[in-house]
Amino acid sequence: MRLSPSFFYKFVIIFFVGIIVILGANKLKAQDNTTLRQILPRTSTNSIHFNNNILNQKVDSVLALMRINEKIGQLVQYSGKWNMTGPSSSKGDQYKLEKLKKGEVGSMLNITSVTSIRETQRIVMENSRLKIPLIFAYDVIHGYKTIFPIPLGESASWDLKIIEQSAAVAAKESAASGLNWTFAPMIDVSRDARWGRVMEGAGEDTFLNSEIGVARIKGFQGKNLYDNSTIAACAKHFAGYGFGEAGRDYNTVNIGENELHNVILPPFKAAAKAGVATFMNSFNDIDGIPATGHKELQRNLLKGKWNWNGFIVSDWGSIGELEAHGYAVDKKNAAEIALNAGSDMDMESYAYEAFLETLLDEKKVSITQIDDAVKRVLRLKFELGLFDDPYKYCNEERERTEVYSEENLAIARDVAKKSIVLLKNENNILPLSKSIGSIAVIGPLADDKNSPLGNWRAKAEYNSAISLLEGVKASVDKNTKIYFEKGIELTIPTVEPGQNQFLYPLKFNTTNRSGIKKAVEAAKKADVVLLAIGEDAYQTGEGRSQTDIGFKGLQMELLEAVKAVNPNIVIVLMNGRPMDLSRPSQMVPSILECWHLGSQSGYAIADVLFGDYNPSGKLPVSFPHNVGQEPLYYNQKNTGRPYNVKHVTFSGYRDAPKTALYPFGFGLSYTTFEYSDLNSSQTEIKANGSLTVSVNVTNTGEHDGEEVVQLYIRDVVGSLTRPVKELKGFQKIKLSAGETKTVTFSIDSETLQFYTVNKIWEVEPGTFNVWIGGSSEAQMMTSFSVVE
Ligand code: NOJ
Repeated sequence: MRLSPSFFYKFVIIFFVGIIVILGANKLKAQDNTTLRQILPRTSTNSIHFNNNILNQKVDSVLALMRINEKIGQLVQYSGKWNMTGPSSSKGDQYKLEKLKKGEVGSMLNITSVTSIRETQRIVMENSRLKIPLIFAYDVIHGYKTIFPIPLGESASWDLKIIEQSAAVAAKESAASGLNWTFAPMIDVSRDARWGRVMEGAGEDTFLNSEIGVARIKGFQGKNLYDNSTIAACAKHFAGYGFGEAGRDYNTVNIGENELHNVILPPFKAAAKAGVATFMNSFNDIDGIPATGHKELQRNLLKGKWNWNGFIVSDWGSIGELEAHGYAVDKKNAAEIALNAGSDMDMESYAYEAFLETLLDEKKVSITQIDDAVKRVLRLKFELGLFDDPYKYCNEERERTEVYSEENLAIARDVAKKSIVLLKNENNILPLSKSIGSIAVIGPLADDKNSPLGNWRAKAEYNSAISLLEGVKASVDKNTKIYFEKGIELTIPTVEPGQNQFLYPLKFNTTNRSGIKKAVEAAKKADVVLLAIGEDAYQTGEGRSQTDIGFKGLQMELLEAVKAVNPNIVIVLMNGRPMDLSRPSQMVPSILECWHLGSQSGYAIADVLFGDYNPSGKLPVSFPHNVGQEPLYYNQKNTGRPYNVKHVTFSGYRDAPKTALYPFGFGLSYTTFEYSDLNSSQTEIKANGSLTVSVNVTNTGEHDGEEVVQLYIRDVVGSLTRPVKELKGFQKIKLSAGETKTVTFSIDSETLQFYTVNKIWEVEPGTFNVWIGGSSEAQMMTSFSVVE
């Protein structure tokens, strides 16, 4: 066989560039100032765009030097042992160490701190042949050590700027501690309050998930992944994970193409477009095909049609689990299916390392596919600058000064107060005066410094949140009397405090009532009761699905006992999922939804309770009348038999309303807003045309405040049935008392299109209804038509 001259020259160039890259990278030591940039020109100032010739050349040059075991190694990710976030690894430390030395590992997760990360990186840099640096990943979901509200809570702010800022702080702290990759954001649309991971996303709406997902990606990745304060993000879980049947984690998802394309995929498409560095696939099967082995989704759609150039990491053990799904005959077959389907990196399945080489020999996978996966991984390593300096994120000084700083805590407080939602405020019981005579702070969560840290609290110190009690004490005048009583314990400890609670189930206290009497005494003496009840941090999160979304343990008993002596109760609700508030909402004048708000929880709640901040949050998820309504979401279909209270033969319930107790988009303020003059610039547009709709919003109350102005549309008749309403825009505005502002939204084909019966995104002619208002129950409507 004769090689053509151009092939020969290309080969020579790639070979020598490769040698230079590797030699350059290999020479690096922790404090070495030599960088790959001095050897090869710097790639790009905006590293989230991967299509770059020089970058590709660098990647190719490394690939050209790699042996098959080293290539496969880049597709392997192991967990460190201290922060396990899944079932125990099937291999021990010694085994992992040997693989690291051989350069047969591409990434580690769950290794934290500069010291441990440097140590692990050093094993690879000092022992392996090619010295390709590791990427270090961790679930930095709502903060690293400075903890922000759980993502569902933060989403209630509807404030994209602060959401981006919170991700940027999390990235900065992580990067200062040696990490360079987070498994966030989770952008699974989640409509089922029973599902524990509803706390981890932006709730039930597709548009809101897209906007918030992109804000988080921008926050984590910044403008440039090469920057030492940014980290790679990961859009997860691709796809459908939020739709597990019956709200059970990891469960089967049975949805059709319409739901998949119109509801679940758009946030992922937005993430890919925003340049998210990685995707994670998911545990569930969708319509019979496990997502990890889903070629149509991963290889054809994400990498093909969407032309996305990052890499896909499997979820923990999800490649091996193809066998349990009954989709692969054994682990070897699972590796074959997953790689062919486009899963690039194997997290903790030990399937790729064991079988890919044999599968290659047997021609069951191709070298092109392996190379493609390896290139995607290498590209990110270049993007992060790890080839220039494998220790570039390892700086003790930064770890000391940039993590948990005053500045970061101040941002966390700001985000937390903006995430709070006022659900009920009869007779304007809130805000409280700081010089109120006495307050009883009661409840199992009232002085809890742990639960507010939420489920995915990364490196937060145990018991480090500011409790409600602390926040109240810091806010009120010195003459105000504060009576604190816990009343009851919510849970009974099952693991030592500070241990990895992530993996263990909770036990609730259902018998010990010994503190209730004292709580009643305290309530009797006080002008107002702040009752902190809801959920323990580990009641939601991964593997924490529940069939009962009411108040566990003895909490309702406590509420009843307190109410019997003092009706002036503000429920300070701390929780990770929509709860069943039907009874409590009838029993108390005020409910403040405080989620798990993070490190500064108590201060942020006090900011709202005492009127230093006027609440502006809106629910990102519907709160039902009872669990039987789940999954409950505002953007349902009309059905052929929309509800009619007079007869039974319509779609609804006979023992509960069909709608939410507190709907999506709802949230009160200490002031009131009125909407008027809804106007559409046109009554007819072409499919590729556009129009604007505007509305006047007036602050009709006595406080300055913020309002989330929401735009909903309905495509009245479609080639597929369309939801009764869909969020398509929102703006958070500030209005002084008495002020009016005109808020305008643009509507174009982006807004109006959907994945139609033709299996393409298009705008169909016909009538569209438009609502603008302060929740998904907005009533003011106008219409326009799209004409051929
Ligand atoms: C399993 C979870 O589903 C995923 O979201 C997480 O990132 C991994 N474990 C790693 O901890």
